[in-house]
Amino acid sequence: MPLLIKNGEIITTSARYTADIYCENEAITRIDRNIDAPPGTEIIDATGKYVFPGFIDPHVHIYLPFMGTFSKDTYETGSKAALVGGTTTLIEMCCPSRKEEALAGFETWMSQAVGKSACDFTFHMGVTKFDDMAEAQLREIVKRGISSFKIFLAYKGAFGIDDTELYRTLKLAKELGVVVTAHCENETLVAERSKELLAAGKTDPGQHHESRPPVVEAEGVHHLMTFAELTGASTYIVHLSCQEALNEAIAARQRGVDVKVETLIQYLVLDKSYAERPNFEGAKYVMSPPLRDVRNQSVLWNGLRSGLVNTVATDHAPFDFKGQKPMGKDDFTKIPNGIPSLEERINLLYTYGVKTGKIDIHTLVDVASTQVAKTFDLFPRKGAIQPGSDADLVIFDPNYRGTISANSQMMNVDYSAFEGWKLEGRPSAVTVRGQVAVKNGKFVGTIGRGKFLERKPSHF
Ligand code: URP
Ligand code: ZN
Ligand code: ZN
Ligand code: ZN
Repeated sequence: MPLLIKNGEIITTSARYTADIYCENEAITRIDRNIDAPPGTEIIDATGKYVFPGFIDPHVHIYLPFMGTFSKDTYETGSKAALVGGTTTLIEMCCPSRKEEALAGFETWMSQAVGKSACDFTFHMGVTKFDDMAEAQLREIVKRGISSFKIFLAYKGAFGIDDTELYRTLKLAKELGVVVTAHCENETLVAERSKELLAAGKTDPGQHHESRPPVVEAEGVHHLMTFAELTGASTYIVHLSCQEALNEAIAARQRGVDVKVETLIQYLVLDKSYAERPNFEGAKYVMSPPLRDVRNQSVLWNGLRSGLVNTVATDHAPFDFKGQKPMGKDDFTKIPNGIPSLEERINLLYTYGVKTGKIDIHTLVDVASTQVAKTFDLFPRKGAIQPGSDADLVIFDPNYRGTISANSQMMNVDYSAFEGWKLEGRPSAVTVRGQVAVKNGKFVGTIGRGKFLERKPSHF
């Protein structure tokens, strides 16, 4: 059925104007004032609302075997939460263990999503081991439509790779035009400091950030930048949390290294005092890199405004407070790392970023949609409101007032890191390739309609 969105204020990275948007065959076909709808057209009245391009989350974990357990969402619960929160495309980290072959891992992650997701999706292919067999399989995976890799300099003994593997991965990425996304922390320093803290009886969640202070992340970034400089590979630093790490990325950029920087909504609005909350409450806020001193928040907001920081993701990693976080009750190194936030990224960015004047509304579109699409070879199919683009649209109501609560969230996890926080605005309707998936803030989409998005590498 054709779809007409009437009278909305269209917001892109550089423009805002009132117009109607007509969509047919999954795509936007016309943008104009006063479009007449043919009989049978579904009409959404967007008067008084913003119309944004569908938001893209460049860093989520839906299926994640990690630290002796599994993240809680499935593609059914995760894509519903994403859509209700205005995210129409997910880029998940495909993270096979070092014992698993790359191709088998890719197929496992695909099987979690195909036929089960209500929104579109693609993957960063995790390179958790690099040898001749892995190289051959990575070439095949790129042929199947993947144009980004993911590497971990952290998580020694789990996903982390060594320097030989790092060098060879970046060389392959350069040859194939693939962008390499990277978790940057020096894993040796984390392991040594963790041992020292535990030996001193410091076991509570608030010790987690002591084990991996800002210089540990900065060293990880510096390390990656050295390898990127020598290989010429395009790089993307995931979940950058602090000034020290950003300085390393900026310095590398100044010497010509191709590097983009992602931060997370968590680092923009939370700080390390949350992880220091008593009675194990801090475990809700344990993630890596950890929440930082509050002074870093303005560094990151300023970075978004100036373009030094390119994107905002969630690194959505849902682990129950009651059933899973207590695995680390007596040892902070065993607390499953991650903070769920897939549903709240856009609402928090709008309420605590745009409404407070920290970023403008065009920057919101850029860092949460358009820049992501450009970096990961999805633009202009995604990340744009123009004829020919997929009809992924977010009709956002700036007059909505509400409160975040785990009781009403769609994410399949038993707590919210933002319990009781006020929201000033939320998506009222969301479309995925021309089909309405959210109406009046409620999911009405189709499980299984989400498509795998094949991407062609462009980072040569
Ligand atoms: O704490 C985090 N970030 N958990 C998810 C895994 C990762 O490092 O991205
Ligand atoms: Zn990570
Ligand atoms: Zn180093
Ligand atoms: Zn992650």
